Amino acid sequence: MSQYQAVKGTKDVFPDEAVQWQLVEGVVRRLAGLYAFGEVRTPVFEYTELFQRGIGATTDIVGKEMFSFLPDPQGRSLTLRPEMTAGVMRAALQRNLLSQAPLHKLFYISDLFRKERPQAGRQRQFTQFGAELLGASSPAAVAEVLSFMMGVFDALGLTGLRLRINTLGDLEDRARYRDALRAYFLPFADELDESSKERLEKNPLRILDSKNPALKELIAAAPRLFDFVKAEGVAEFEEVLSLLRDRGVSYEVDHLLVRGLDYYCHTAFEVTSSELGAQDAIGGGGRYDGLARELGGGKDMPAVGFAVGMERLLIAMEKQGLLEGLKPVGPKVFVVVQQLELSGHAMQVAFQLRRAGISTELDLAGRSMKAQMREANRLGAAYALFIGQTEFESGQYGLKNLVSSEQSTLTLDSITEILREPLLCG
Ligand code: HAM
Repeated sequence: MSQYQAVKGTKDVFPDEAVQWQLVEGVVRRLAGLYAFGEVRTPVFEYTELFQRGIGATTDIVGKEMFSFLPDPQGRSLTLRPEMTAGVMRAALQRNLLSQAPLHKLFYISDLFRKERPQAGRQRQFTQFGAELLGASSPAAVAEVLSFMMGVFDALGLTGLRLRINTLGDLEDRARYRDALRAYFLPFADELDESSKERLEKNPLRILDSKNPALKELIAAAPRLFDFVKAEGVAEFEEVLSLLRDRGVSYEVDHLLVRGLDYYCHTAFEVTSSELGAQDAIGGGGRYDGLARELGGGKDMPAVGFAVGMERLLIAMEKQGLLEGLKPVGPKVFVVVQQLELSGHAMQVAFQLRRAGISTELDLAGRSMKAQMREANRLGAAYALFIGQTEFESGQYGLKNLVSSEQSTLTLDSITEILREPLLCG
């Protein structure tokens, strides 16, 4: 064993587990195609100010969870991205995307970094799949993004999910609400815990997010943001809900829902899973029309998106038995050689089979025929192709079906014809 261990809060994934990721990624990519979202990839690090401005200086993420570093003593501070939305918006503004087309539908499967205390479902490096729809945030756009997200859960067969949804109004609504909330909590300041006291000054909305049971009643009786949202905001929210009902998406309106990132406006949502413990949020998102202006874009850009934590999704799937029996696909053929001198020829045979799109494995360690057969079975190969001196000289090879044990003697061209599968490309 090496003296080095993976850093706490990070994970290694080997082929046995990688198939689980591939299953989810495949469904995400397929649904992204069906909903016509194109893939976006942005750098893993950005200037620190991007997240300070974008996510909000008083949020937990910016306040204590960012991995920031100075590339050189004179350089500007950089940060490993803790989420994707700010980076995608930065890229869209930089590329002036909206001048090329009025609407952009983007999705991603990306690694993120947050300096949180590691525990089940909470890592320091984790992966999200998500989508950002730029150029529209109409009720139809919100419903589109939500249908994509819920569609992935459906396609994977995941149940026991709760979609909570709220409207946060616009900037003006929230400013009035913030004042009202501060006035409400102020007389109870002594009863608040340390972090809520801090939030009272900086961002009282975040007190509503507190998980402290001692504050539950106080929070429940607090003024509701919904009562501060203007009539047109309420009407739009009602339309989002109506579209969700039309599409058969179940939801619960939760007026206490506020998200941990500052860029949201109007509709915001979160999905939790009954399979997860303390960290039960599997995904979340909402509208963020003001982010473009916040990042120096000069004006608002209608936008809506979501992100789902892949590790938490996989934990929930595992608990529901949705990952059982998944294992890496073995090679179709294992080339078994009788003696070491034939391994050069075995490589040529394997090369021809692979060129025909047939997945082929061969011995690379000079093992005995028996050991090679054991390996073929362990890998789950469908066929074994035998090469001995006679086969080499005659050009007729033994092909054994490892499931039925049927065996035949054939030329390499015939074998290639029988096992051929179309190559993915070309
Ligand atoms: P978020 O709620 O911060 O939203 O993260 C979304 C999901 O990422 C969470 O629900 C959770 O499943 C997963 N997640 C977050 N932190 C961790 C962690 N430390 N370990 C494992 N999983 C984690 C966002 O990130 C927004 N950018 C979503 C969005 C996209 N809003 C609009 N567009």
